[in-house]
Amino acid sequence: MKIAMIASEANPLVKTGGLADVVYSLSKELALLGQEVIIILPYYGNIKGTIKSKVELICSYTVRLSWRQAEARIYKTGIDGITYYLIDNEQYFNRGHLYGDYDDGERFAFFTVAAKELFSHIQFTPSIIHVHDWQPGMLPCLIKEEKPISRYFAKTKFVFTIHNPAFQGLYSKSILGDFYGLDDSLFETGIVRFDGQVSTLKTAIIYSDKITTVSPTHREELLTPQHSMGLWNVMRLREWDFAGFLNGIDVAEFNPVADLHIFKTYNIDNIKEGKRVNKESFMKERGLKNFDAPLFGFVSRLTWQKGIDVLLPACYELVQRGANIAVLGSGEYNAEIELEKLRARYPDQVTIYIGYNEEFAHKIYAASDYFLMPSLFEPCGISQMIAQRYGTPPIVRRTGGLKDSVIGYDLHNLDVADGISFDEYSAHAFKNTCIYALEVYNNVVAFDTLRKNAMKVDNSWAKSARLYLGLYENIKR
Ligand code: GLC
Repeated sequence: MKIAMIASEANPLVKTGGLADVVYSLSKELALLGQEVIIILPYYGNIKGTIKSKVELICSYTVRLSWRQAEARIYKTGIDGITYYLIDNEQYFNRGHLYGDYDDGERFAFFTVAAKELFSHIQFTPSIIHVHDWQPGMLPCLIKEEKPISRYFAKTKFVFTIHNPAFQGLYSKSILGDFYGLDDSLFETGIVRFDGQVSTLKTAIIYSDKITTVSPTHREELLTPQHSMGLWNVMRLREWDFAGFLNGIDVAEFNPVADLHIFKTYNIDNIKEGKRVNKESFMKERGLKNFDAPLFGFVSRLTWQKGIDVLLPACYELVQRGANIAVLGSGEYNAEIELEKLRARYPDQVTIYIGYNEEFAHKIYAASDYFLMPSLFEPCGISQMIAQRYGTPPIVRRTGGLKDSVIGYDLHNLDVADGISFDEYSAHAFKNTCIYALEVYNNVVAFDTLRKNAMKVDNSWAKSARLYLGLYENIKR
């Protein structure tokens, strides 16, 4: 089957969040299953210098967004059995960052329109176009509204995956004509309208043949008024075409047995020794002093979604009880400042790295005794699965994919528990859960079992990739 993934980021070329991991790992797995997979991405300035594989310019063409004419130069490269097509335009993508500009609506409209035209230039007739999140969300609509439908898409089916419903691609009605060359009637009739604006996310939900999100629990959440960011009415329209498949992780990239970034590789048989060496070496490197006290790791974007406001009070509680904390991430300014204050006050117990650093992330996963993830909402979450793979029980709030991927220890289920979990989103509840985790840490038998159970969890992509393939095959019939 010919499958085209279209997204605003994908590993190993460009990543700001879990979206990049998923687009790449799923594609790689599908390629292993014998499918022909391409990934279409913007060619951001910040990936140009970093691509290690050979990139070739294959064509260029003019893209029209209403009265604007912009050039798309298409580059191609192959990685792990996947062909990447990179859409280049200096003005739109050479900016040193991916998102957050006043003209994001226009930039991703250019990307979407250019992607639609790409297929004829590369002579690729896709069986499936798999669209991810809001940025390319108008593509199914653009293709289906064009009459007659181009022969490249006569048999194409569309799958749309919601990774994060908080980002809805909301723009004024004028983007329809002004960027996409679509008729205003799509707005007047309500098809693409959401909250009084055009939503590229909603448009993708309406126009795609199947919709998925990244865990079964998040699928349920998106059908409720409380947990759907206002989308439940739209989701209910598509309920029978809507699936929830849990993401996997790249088990080759995150592999304690062969990880080159960590101090000592280890497996389940020498987990105790392996984790001890990683913890002590990491703590020494970062100037933390008390090796006997547990180390709590946190690797995340520092945003409200990730539970920053309950994280901070819990961190204070933990350090006051002697524990150590390691944080890696960047995001909201206030969160960065508050974390820095915590470190300044407890320099022997807290280490913080603002930014992203792959090696540092791997070291935290390997060195920590627990991994913190008190997310307010979490469609899937990837870090908790990575933590499990490194034998680091995650402490998670039971929401979205965190609920589906972690079995919380409740004193009666030691044979199956692989983390610790709690329900209520409050500083109080999270603090108490962390205190409970300290008690579990002091129970050598329980803690040892918990981390081994975590390490045994199979979070590979193999299972989910088959679910996606099944879905593709299903709609092709
Ligand atoms: C988004 C979600 C996260 C999910 C990821 C990949 O970043 O917030 O929960 O794991 O997408 O699907």
